[in-house]
Amino acid sequence: MIHKYPNSFARFYDTIYHQVRDSTDHEFFLQEIRNTKGKILEVGVGTGRMFSDALNLGADIYGLDISDSMIEVLKNKIPEDQHYRISLQNIVDFSFDFKFDLIIAPFRVIMHLLEKDEQIRALNNVYNHLNKNGQFIFDAFIPDLNQIINGLNNKLDFEGEYEPGKIIKRFASTTPSLIDQTITVNFHLEWQEDDGLKQDDWALPMRFFFRFELEHLVERSSFDNYRIIGDYKGNELNKESKDFIVICRKTTE
Ligand SMILES: C[S@@+](CC[C@H](N)C(=O)[O-])C[C@H]1O[C@@H](n2cnc3c(N)ncnc32)[C@H](O)[C@@H]1O
Repeated sequence: MIHKYPNSFARFYDTIYHQVRDSTDHEFFLQEIRNTKGKILEVGVGTGRMFSDALNLGADIYGLDISDSMIEVLKNKIPEDQHYRISLQNIVDFSFDFKFDLIIAPFRVIMHLLEKDEQIRALNNVYNHLNKNGQFIFDAFIPDLNQIINGLNNKLDFEGEYEPGKIIKRFASTTPSLIDQTITVNFHLEWQEDDGLKQDDWALPMRFFFRFELEHLVERSSFDNYRIIGDYKGNELNKESKDFIVICRKTTE
């Protein structure tokens, strides 16, 4: 089952996430991109929060996503002669007739896959699109049990200008399911337009992982070499860690 991002969320994505996420993960992924000489793929490329900078650096990077709303925003940010790099595809069954040296899935893309069979198909599909010694890097948040169980109740988690003098506010509520191992985030957006206040609601279920499940998952896949680090500075997992960053390597042809 896929959950496409709606137009409203895509429209305000950059305003919100350049502010709340870039300082955490942007430099890490850009550095991995700079270190790669060959082709790169970002799965779940979204609005190109990383991708457009990578392209400006001269990276030979491609991007795919299931949300046409997000891809439209990205296409408007890059030159038309580069649009061939972007496609509407699913991580589970995407296809290219060439392979990559680096594939990245930044910012919880993998958590959008709710079922075990989708997760394993995604990992194996990525594996099949890597060259020998190619890397796949993805991340997932480390579940904070207090936060998952207590949840958020219509919390204002972002307020800022999306255009001079025009404010977007985002409220979030969460509903956990410990049996499905999901947290569903209900977003409520409110923004000002010339003709008045607009609003939209959207629910996004995300599948959370504990460390050893992630390890079992990767070990069930075709990848035979991986490590999990605990932040975007390269530190090992520790009690302060907020994210699992999983670095998988394809060691054979
Ligand atoms: C949180 S956004 C991250 C976007 C971008 N990577 C970033 O770092 O800003 C997650 C993206 O994954 C995409 N996505 C979700 N499920 C997907 C799937 N099965 N295949 C490809 N993309 C998917 C969503 O449409 C969304 O654009």
